[in-house]
Amino acid sequence: MFTGIYDERLFPIGLGTYGLVGVQAGPLSSGDKHLEAVKYAISSGINVIDTAEMYGEGRTEELVGRAISSFRRDDIFIISKVWPSNLERKKLFSSAEASLKRLGTNYIDLYLIHWPSQTVPLDESISAMLELRDRGVIREIGVSNFDNGLLDQALDYAGRGKIVANEIELNFSNFARSRETLEHCRSKGVRVIAYSPLSRGRISHNSGVQQIAQKYGATSVQVILRFLIEFSLPIPKSSNPEHIDEIVGAARVPLTEEVVDLLTHKF
Ligand SMILES: NC(=O)c1ccc[n+]([C@@H]2O[C@H](COP(=O)([O-])OP(=O)(O)OC[C@H]3O[C@@H](n4cnc5c(N)ncnc54)[C@H](OP(=O)(O)O)[C@@H]3O)[C@@H](O)[C@H]2O)c1
Repeated sequence: MFTGIYDERLFPIGLGTYGLVGVQAGPLSSGDKHLEAVKYAISSGINVIDTAEMYGEGRTEELVGRAISSFRRDDIFIISKVWPSNLERKKLFSSAEASLKRLGTNYIDLYLIHWPSQTVPLDESISAMLELRDRGVIREIGVSNFDNGLLDQALDYAGRGKIVANEIELNFSNFARSRETLEHCRSKGVRVIAYSPLSRGRISHNSGVQQIAQKYGATSVQVILRFLIEFSLPIPKSSNPEHIDEIVGAARVPLTEEVVDLLTHKF
């Protein structure tokens, strides 16, 4: 079992799962392309999987549950999320239980508030999350799409060190605008999880990135992911084994400090 989001045994890139299964999809069959892709990613070394109760209205968690059943549970770090309409105390407990069932597990490594709620007081949700953590249903608590002010409020309610991650959009297009958030999270000991790290497939063909890619015998996707690893845990989604190979290979790209500096200014 991992010690948490900072465990060095976690692969530096996780697998996103949004869009793997549609709400209308029929029953999952073994050999399903998306199921096999998640298994392939895990076999290739990716041991962090990001999912949510909202994805495919639960179908994606079911698919993840099926995929991980071929592996030792403790070797995989599962991130799931509760949707804002379920942030009241009782609903939050039911959501977590339903996620456990779909995932076929008795704990979630990291459970996130998917988006802030406009109606449910944050302290109610945080105290419910803390209770889930004390009961061992979830091992760590995080948030997603929280701005700096809201993150501080969550930390005030939970206690420093108890909100371990903020999952935010971070990619080539918004990196420059995200620097303050990155610095804020770093200063609070909150790990950033970078969603849509490949800009939802609209991968940049920036010539600076391409030049660096050439220098290291890598691809632009790999340079972008490797760069984001310096600041976050990126979670690209892919159901294509070739793309998964490329994603895994990104962790091996040796970025020097000089290149990180250069990219920081190009991003
Ligand atoms: N917390 C939140 O509010 C939130 C919001 C959005 C997303 N997320 C999470 O973040 C994950 C990733 O974000 P995302 O799915 O929006 O976008 P993304 O990971 O930036 O992009 C996914 C797209 O990139 C393509 N792709 C993957 N690897 C590639 C490669 N090597 N070369 C070319 N194309 C490649 C995928 O196609 P193939 O499948 O064909 O490879 C897919 O179309 C989601 O799946 C979800 O888990 C969280």
